[in-house]
Amino acid sequence: METKVVRLGEGNKDEEVLREAGEILKAGGLVAFPTETVYGLGGDALNPSSSKKIYAAKGRPSDNPLIVHLYRTEDLFQVAREVPERALRLAEAFWPGPLTMILPKSDLVPKETTGGLDTVAVRLPSHPAARKMIEYAGGFVAAPSANLSGRPSPTTAKYVVEDMNGRIEMILDDGEVGIGLESTIVDLTVSPPQILRPGFITGEMLTEVLGQVENDATLFSTGSGQAPRAPGMKYRHYAPKGDLTIVQGDKDQVVAFVNQKVLKARAEGKRTGVIAASDTAFRYEGDVIKTIGDRRDEEVIARRLYTILREFDDEEVDLMFSESFGDESGEHGGLGQAIMNRLLKAAGHQVIKV
Ligand code: TXA
Ligand code: MG
Repeated sequence: METKVVRLGEGNKDEEVLREAGEILKAGGLVAFPTETVYGLGGDALNPSSSKKIYAAKGRPSDNPLIVHLYRTEDLFQVAREVPERALRLAEAFWPGPLTMILPKSDLVPKETTGGLDTVAVRLPSHPAARKMIEYAGGFVAAPSANLSGRPSPTTAKYVVEDMNGRIEMILDDGEVGIGLESTIVDLTVSPPQILRPGFITGEMLTEVLGQVENDATLFSTGSGQAPRAPGMKYRHYAPKGDLTIVQGDKDQVVAFVNQKVLKARAEGKRTGVIAASDTAFRYEGDVIKTIGDRRDEEVIARRLYTILREFDDEEVDLMFSESFGDESGEHGGLGQAIMNRLLKAAGHQVIKV
């Protein structure tokens, strides 16, 4: 299949392009599009054959449910069988924006879209082009992140092209995304509500609206013996091709430990990489050093993380070490939780404390 790649924001053609994208979706085709979090791979959420095509294009297991994207809040009543008052309060506070809610699904949503579940994940993105496209598509667009299964979610159209060229009808290119990590997922079918995936909308922000929220027990550890409640979180997502280990501890000791490992690996003929904050990056010996940003600037770190993981793949690094960022315990808050959750997954939970 020939994939049409169109750059948005150049000239006044956007309206026309988004209308065309909507038509492709209505006809059962697939379009990758920018959102404020990461690029999505869209198909008509109400068409079972579109959802099947999404799984095929990504190489994704079909028990991993898709998020249904809306362009207006009132459509929540179309896709959810029940809309609790707390869902409306969350929508009021955070939509349009990077928050996904899990609710009981209505009959309108086919099981192919929800991976066989009786619940549905719903989100209203804030990206203007995304919303326009969803409206032109008829209002309900199922979209996972637009990467091949097992690769980091794409934060620029370049990575979407890398993974999806030839597999889908169209790619809308709007440059780099704003946030860089996927939306926060909160399950409203349980009491108290549970965070299944941390993101830009933090636990504190949700608590302010809901009164009480819990973290899914598997977000920061693998030791709970439980399966994650968001089916997609059980897969080793965001996985770089090389082997990644997070090293935690006192700054000087982390640098010394990593450098010793790097020199040993180099002697064995391996290519090494390090992810470090700007204050320590210059102290590392690795073949490829990635400076992720100022360690206090979590928004920059969030935006850079997936790009760095992809760049390591491009540079064929065998062995990688990363400093720890944000908050690994999951007990405090902020965007640090989302960063650490993704980094731990990329590292397959390999952490060394020095
Ligand atoms: O920011 C985002 O959410 C991006 C953009 C494109 O909107 N989308 C995204 O989709 O990250 P995806 O498919 O890569 O991740 C969806 C996650 C998976 O972990 C999936 O298991 C979970 O949401 N999920 C979807 N429906 C669910 C449900 N009914 N119950 C529990 N988890 C669900
Ligand atoms: Mg994904």
